Amino acid sequence: MRKSTAPIKVGVLFSQSGATSTIETSQLQATLLAFQEINEAGGIHGREVIAVHYDPASSPGTYKILAEKLIVEDGVRTILGCYMSSTRKAVLPVVQRWNAMLMYPTLYEGFEFSDNVIYTGAAPNQNSVQLAQYMMSNFGARAYLVGSDYIYPYESNRIMGDMLLEHHGKRVAERYVKLDADALDFREVVADIKRQQPDFIFSTVVGRATGHFYRAYAEAGLDPRKMPIASLTTSEAEVAEMGAEVACGHITAATYFQSIATEANQQAVAKYRRRFGADAVTNMCWEAAYFQAHMLAEALRSVGTDSIQQLLPAILGMEFHAPQGLVKIDGANHHTYLTPRIGRVDASGQFEILQAAARPVKPDPYLVDHSIKDWSSQVTVASVG
Ligand code: ACM
Repeated sequence: MRKSTAPIKVGVLFSQSGATSTIETSQLQATLLAFQEINEAGGIHGREVIAVHYDPASSPGTYKILAEKLIVEDGVRTILGCYMSSTRKAVLPVVQRWNAMLMYPTLYEGFEFSDNVIYTGAAPNQNSVQLAQYMMSNFGARAYLVGSDYIYPYESNRIMGDMLLEHHGKRVAERYVKLDADALDFREVVADIKRQQPDFIFSTVVGRATGHFYRAYAEAGLDPRKMPIASLTTSEAEVAEMGAEVACGHITAATYFQSIATEANQQAVAKYRRRFGADAVTNMCWEAAYFQAHMLAEALRSVGTDSIQQLLPAILGMEFHAPQGLVKIDGANHHTYLTPRIGRVDASGQFEILQAAARPVKPDPYLVDHSIKDWSSQVTVASVG
């Protein structure tokens, strides 16, 4: 039998419209950059990898319809995609029903497992625990929680609330705003923050609303050096959208920042900018989208087929030198070993890295043995990159 030379189609679902289109566009572009690199290096034994991409418009219902279309009409077996947990939850039953595979490159709330999903963004033991420890050590344990109105913020706030309680802290308030909240919606929230004077604010606001929140905070005259906003989702993409002057001084925990000073990262950033423009910024979700596409290609090369039965054993346990450093897919829980970091936005809109773990941290999506002390023993202080 002659070897196939037909292209391998991979489904790609990231939004170019709707509330989270800025960050999702960066994930789309990271995927396309990785595919370009894979094809320039000879593809999968000479077969080109092509993206079949649709715009799900940041809508869980549209994600579900398009995932089904990709599998049933386009014949793809693997989908790279989703930012909001609500959209992943919509795609999950579809990939399970058709025994296809989803690779999900976004930090999320954890407490999930599927045989049909590989999770390449941070689990809560790789960002929430570190952020709680940093904020409580440096600012205090009275936190004001503000989130967008959907599952990730509820669950992430539950985890943060538990950690505050464990350390005799306090959830000063827990507020939710609609996904497309605007400046007016945040004015009242910020006025309440000013009245309550928490030690810090934990934001699980996502997408375009993020900028409205940080701007309302700045306009109220609050000071990030005294009472910063801490987040897991405010990345270089949201900072670029809102402007560095509004974001400067606020804090994010992430497993990747564009400012990581390694040769490998600088080269990845330079390649991205050559293709997508000198102003393009990378971020944690960009990086996971980039390395997961390369890991998929490596698995396709080693097994020569995109059926999940063969692909999964090749992906589980796989290691890859990503822009953040070495990453590895955990063979048991399908999540990824990643290197937690804490960053503070500087005047140029980049993150100054304040702390980084000394080595990749095993994913523990169910927070079985999380402990804030674990992280403190693993960090190295200041500019590790
Ligand atoms: C998220 O919804 N996982 C950011």
